[in-house]
Amino acid sequence: MSQPPPDAYTSGRRLNVLSAIRKRRSIRSFLERDVAESDVRRILECGTLAPSAGNLQPWQFVVVRDQQRKAALARAAYDQMFIAEAPVVIVVLADQSRSASVYGRRGLELYAIQDTAAAIQNMLLAACEMGYGTCWVGAFDEDSVAEIVKAGRGTKPVAVIPVGYPRYTPAATRRRRLSEVIHEETYQS
Ligand SMILES: Cc1cc2nc3c(=O)[nH]c(=O)nc-3n(C[C@H](O)[C@H](O)[C@H](O)COP(=O)(O)O)c2cc1C
Repeated sequence: MSQPPPDAYTSGRRLNVLSAIRKRRSIRSFLERDVAESDVRRILECGTLAPSAGNLQPWQFVVVRDQQRKAALARAAYDQMFIAEAPVVIVVLADQSRSASVYGRRGLELYAIQDTAAAIQNMLLAACEMGYGTCWVGAFDEDSVAEIVKAGRGTKPVAVIPVGYPRYTPAATRRRRLSEVIHEETYQS
């Protein structure tokens, strides 16, 4: 049996992030039950623990609970009305200006988006671990979402994430076989 790495980082424990990765599903139907503000905070804090280029942390989170604003977000997401069913909707913005100020075009076009995506995934996994359902919604009219949450200049809406208790847990979606996506040494032979 292989030895666990000899440091306090993992100390040989099986991390429950592995089970959250397996358990997580996109949830598109929610119970009317509320999500405690303290839990929203914990989820957001997990977002802020994501890695980011130069540790710039170019993410901003807008927590939406107002029913009319949630409905407006759902409409802006091309009528994905399940968004408005969730008690809480988190709109994630990438502060592209912040990344660009240090990394120029690469910061603006790539790092700000990558960093924010890492924060999003952290939040989805944390929420799952805490028993909540989420869905990463990326199909929306960007200008409309920016207007609804009054996003600042230089920020880009990256995701709309409804958070709530799942009405039911859907079956796992299919994944491509590893053999279709893994390459040894080079991509092309
Ligand atoms: C960038 C991105 C955009 C997405 N946009 C939407 C969306 O607009 N609406 C939606 O219902 N699901 C959306 N999804 C969720 C995917 O449909 C879902 O992750 C995929 O089908 C796999 O299912 P699973 O999340 O249950 O594993 C999005 C996911 C990602 C990563």
